[in-house]
This record gives sequence, C-alpha cells and structure tokens, in this order.
Amino acid sequence: MRILGIETSCDETAAAVVALEGTLPEGRIHLLSNVVQGQLQIHADYGGVVPELASRAHIRHIHPVVSGALAQAGMEAGDLDGVAVTAGPGLVGGLLVGISLAKGLALAIRRPLIGVHHLEGHLVSPLLSRPEDVPPFPFVALLVSGGHTVLVHAREFGDYQLLGQTLDDAVGEAFDKGARMLGLGYPGGPAVAALAEGGNTEAVHFPRILLDRQRFDFSFSGLKTALRAQRQKDGEAGATPERLRDLAASYQEAIVDTLIFKALAACHHTGASRLVIAGGVGANRRLREKLSLQAREASLAPFFPALALCMDNGAMIAVAGAARLARGLSSDLSLDARPRWPLTELAPIRYHSGDDPG
Ligand code: KG4
Ligand code: ZN
Repeated sequence: MRILGIETSCDETAAAVVALEGTLPEGRIHLLSNVVQGQLQIHADYGGVVPELASRAHIRHIHPVVSGALAQAGMEAGDLDGVAVTAGPGLVGGLLVGISLAKGLALAIRRPLIGVHHLEGHLVSPLLSRPEDVPPFPFVALLVSGGHTVLVHAREFGDYQLLGQTLDDAVGEAFDKGARMLGLGYPGGPAVAALAEGGNTEAVHFPRILLDRQRFDFSFSGLKTALRAQRQKDGEAGATPERLRDLAASYQEAIVDTLIFKALAACHHTGASRLVIAGGVGANRRLREKLSLQAREASLAPFFPALALCMDNGAMIAVAGAARLARGLSSDLSLDARPRWPLTELAPIRYHSGDDPG
C-alpha cells in the first residue's frame, strides 16, 4: 500500500510517500520520499508564524512539494493507493490548502482520501524508524513543539489517552519568547540552545512549575515572567555576554527539568516502559541527553525519532493515514479543516468504511 501524506497545518509545506507492508503496527513501513519546504525567512521578522503569510506560502509551495515527493519516490499520482492529509488541528488557512489539494488529487486518481489528526501523525512517527525488535505499543509520548505540549498514553493504534497538556504557552513558545528577551531571533529554540552551550545552568534558579505531582499538565507562562523579571533586575549594565549565556542555560534547564519530571511521572503512572519524544523541541540536545540519562536510570527506554521526523513532515501523516486506511477507515469529500481538534475527539471526523471518495 503506497500512501501520499500532505502536511500544511503550520509553517511547513510537506509531502511524503510511504509504502506499508502488512498491517500496522506490526507491518514494516518504508519511507520512499520526504519533501519539506519551510517558511522561516517569511516569519523571522515577526518573531512568530503569521497565519496569512503562512497560507499564501502554502499555496505557492504545495504543488512543487507534492510533485517533488512523487518524483523522489519515482512514482506518478496514479500509482498511489490513497491520499492522507492533515485535517487539524492547526491554522485554518494552511489546512484548507492541503485539504483542497488532497481532495482534488484523490478524486482525480479515484483513490481514498484520509483526513489525519496532526498529533496522531507525531504519535506514530516513531514507526518510521523503529528497530525490528521494538514492539510499537504501548508507550508514553511527549509531544513538544511550537504549538503543542502534550503527554499522551498511546495504548494501541488509535487508542490514545491524553494525560496532560499545557495550560498556557506551548514549550516551543516558551523558548521563542525567552529568546526574544535574550535578544535572540526566531525560531528561539535553536538560538537559546546555542547560546546556552557552556553556560552555567545554576546561575539563576528559574521556577519548575510542576503544579501537582498527580497531574500531567504544564504551565510555562510563569517561567517567561521570571526571565523578564531577572533581565530587569540585571539591568542593561548586567547584560554581559557571559550573563546572557548563563541566563539561557538556566532558562533552558528549567524547561528541560519540567518536561523530564512530567514525562517520567507519566510513565510511572501508566506503567509504560517506553517513552517517545516528538515535535520540534525534541531536537533540543540538552533535553535529549538529560532525558536519556534519567529515563535509563528509571529503567525506561527513551525513543527519539530521527531529527527530520521530529519536525512537521508529510511522512508521519502518510503513516497515520496508511494505518487508518488499512483498517478500512477513510474520509469523504466533505472532509473539512478542524483548526481546534482535541486528540480525545479523534473519532468524530467523518470516517466511513468506503473505497473511492465521493
Ligand atoms: O514541531 P515544530 O517544527 O513545529 C510546530 O510548532 O509544529 O516545532 C517548532 C518549535 C519552535 O518553537 C522552535 O523554537 C522549537 O520547536 N525548537 C527547539 C529546537 N529546535 C526547534 N526548541 C528547543 N531546542 C531546539 N534545538
Ligand atoms: Zn507538529
């Protein structure tokens, strides 16, 4: 089964083709192509993603990206067995671009259309680089990106229990806003991480807002406020390169410690022995190192998808789509964008056990 996956929910226009051998989760998945066109330059001046600019860029990029993914896979559209597309959550303008193209393509080639939940894509992304001997489910997943901070217990394909999520800023936002206060550009995560290299992680004790040990929700807005207060206290005279480096290191450490604490507590709570980290912030080196160490100490197996698959991509959407289609689930042409779509409401999308769309 060969599935095209299209992702346009935020600021990446992405498409990929995967081939599924057998049935997921046990079957093997082969990544035949993976094309991602980012928009960093377009949004850099604004310090964050500007939805209208993102939609326009998706319109410009979607055709070359999809054609590129088919060409890289050595295929024509007619060779596909289905078209999967992110239906939400995300920015409505971007979602509509991907959905429109996916509908047109599915109709033209008379193959099923599959609307995919973006977070289910992230959740199944480890299946793309899973070693043969690792059973895929169950696991706890920490999904950390510019738009999401969620802890999920993935018990089985399609069976996800939301354990916790951020009550205010997403963790990527905490990095992006912190970066601005440290005089760094967008995206803030890599900039803060680079500045923090060699800094003193204990220079300032920023709050680890854990709320309640029995709950798995996150809150990052207090941390951002603490950094602002510290910058004001230090004053301009105190803003030496060494001090900024230490602030970045201490700030990053507070974020990393919070994520690790919650993720390990979630594994303990659910009894899961595997922990998957996905999303852009999963690229953070300090998080990868410290979490790996602490997870192993707790006899847990941490799993980070390949860096390229941590970020938004079409491959993860294709995998989720393939898994749904293999279970006879597809969408029809009434598929609509769902900008807000809680993971816990995964079922209500218009799935039916049909073949051709329309
Ligand atoms: O998953 P992603 O590419 O896009 C979505 O938001 O869906 O995540 C982007 C976020 C940005 O907030 C960026 O600052 C953060 O991931 N990020 C990082 C690192 N690389 C990207 N945060 C911390 N450390 C990094 N190395
Ligand atoms: Zn994402």
